[in-house]
Amino acid sequence: MDSRIEFLYLSEQDTIKVGVNNASECVEVCEEVFKLLAQGDYLMGGTNHNSHGIGIIFPKESEFPNMPTAGPDRRFFAMPAYLGGRFDVCGNKWYGSNAANSSKGLPRSILTVLLNDKDTGAPLCLMSANLLSAARTGAIPAVAVRRLGREDSEVCALLGCGPINKSCYRNIMTQAKTIKKVIFYDLFEDKAREMAEWAKKEYGVETEVSSDLPVLLSEADIVTVAASRIKPLFIEKKWLKKGALVLLSGPVRGDDEFWLESKIVYDHIGLHEAYVEEAVVSGDRKNYYSGVIGGPIYNLIDENKLPDLKDSVDLGHVILGAGEGRTNDEENIVFVACGMAVFDVAWGYELYRRALEKGIGQKLLLWDAPALS
Ligand SMILES: NC(=O)c1ccc[n+]([C@@H]2O[C@H](COP(=O)([O-])OP(=O)(O)OC[C@H]3O[C@@H](n4cnc5c(N)ncnc54)[C@H](O)[C@@H]3O)[C@@H](O)[C@H]2O)c1
Repeated sequence: MDSRIEFLYLSEQDTIKVGVNNASECVEVCEEVFKLLAQGDYLMGGTNHNSHGIGIIFPKESEFPNMPTAGPDRRFFAMPAYLGGRFDVCGNKWYGSNAANSSKGLPRSILTVLLNDKDTGAPLCLMSANLLSAARTGAIPAVAVRRLGREDSEVCALLGCGPINKSCYRNIMTQAKTIKKVIFYDLFEDKAREMAEWAKKEYGVETEVSSDLPVLLSEADIVTVAASRIKPLFIEKKWLKKGALVLLSGPVRGDDEFWLESKIVYDHIGLHEAYVEEAVVSGDRKNYYSGVIGGPIYNLIDENKLPDLKDSVDLGHVILGAGEGRTNDEENIVFVACGMAVFDVAWGYELYRRALEKGIGQKLLLWDAPALS
């Protein structure tokens, strides 16, 4: 019996070689995952099979000098999943995030994905996942644009000009073919300016840098939000253009009308039910809600101002024709995407298959034969 195990290692450059940045292909894979989610052919963490993952949350202070303490966007997170369909594989995304990384010339978060054989648990592929994660995070709202956007959308606004929204924009552009103008907004204007220059060069669209949120929102048909948590971003419903699609990949605060007078479409109802369950278990719902993208919505559900999650709609069901998407050009839709490991596993698996076919990456030995068996 051959018990030798080796697995593939893919560096960031390797993932580029196998097409991690191919936005239109990633959108197709993410749409496939939405269908599998709605059909139930997946498992994520926790007994409810729907947990986003488990994190190390640092204390405000510690008696131990080396123990990390809380800071902006500082956490570690493990996000495990099994994904069925043609993928039929297990995996885990594991990352550390710290806003202070930028002073070291590093991205805010550093991510890896490990894929494993679903039966034996043997590692199949360990890969650098900053690009992978950004690609799938950008492709998810692009699926929403395809399914929930207005066909005549001409203006797109980016709130937050970090790597995640850059990816959202690249992916959205594969679906929203009528976009003529893009508006960039960031706490730091130089970041917005830098991304506007990039977009102009890459896509030849008209670009604008704005610091006036109400004015820019009055123009935008598609709004993609991926700002970090340095300072809460606040949107009033009256600032939105009629029919606008607001895509939340990062947190936002809004007045009650923003949530109550928009149609809310979730990425996956089960995920949000799991967040609420975890908030209850934490013993401090409000505090837990304040740390997650859907928090403001869960508060309104608790106050009976919004329908229960079980009576709400998610994108997978819209795609399968089992849930109501956009019904007219006037309604505002808010799409809430909190990130699920199934998408990392799907895009990671796709890249792994391609790397095997093309002989890209480095084989690493786990063992010739296990010392313990
Ligand atoms: N939903 C998902 O699956 C998913 C996955 C990865 C990251 N995220 C989230 O996406 C967000 C962006 O990630 P990133 O890696 O690009 O972060 P980043 O910190 O590198 O960039 C975020 C940008 O947002 C800007 N910003 C912060 N607060 C702002 C505000 N109030 N108004 C305007 N701009 C503001 C910052 O200046 C920065 O340029 C984070 O909140 C992150 O947690 C979501």
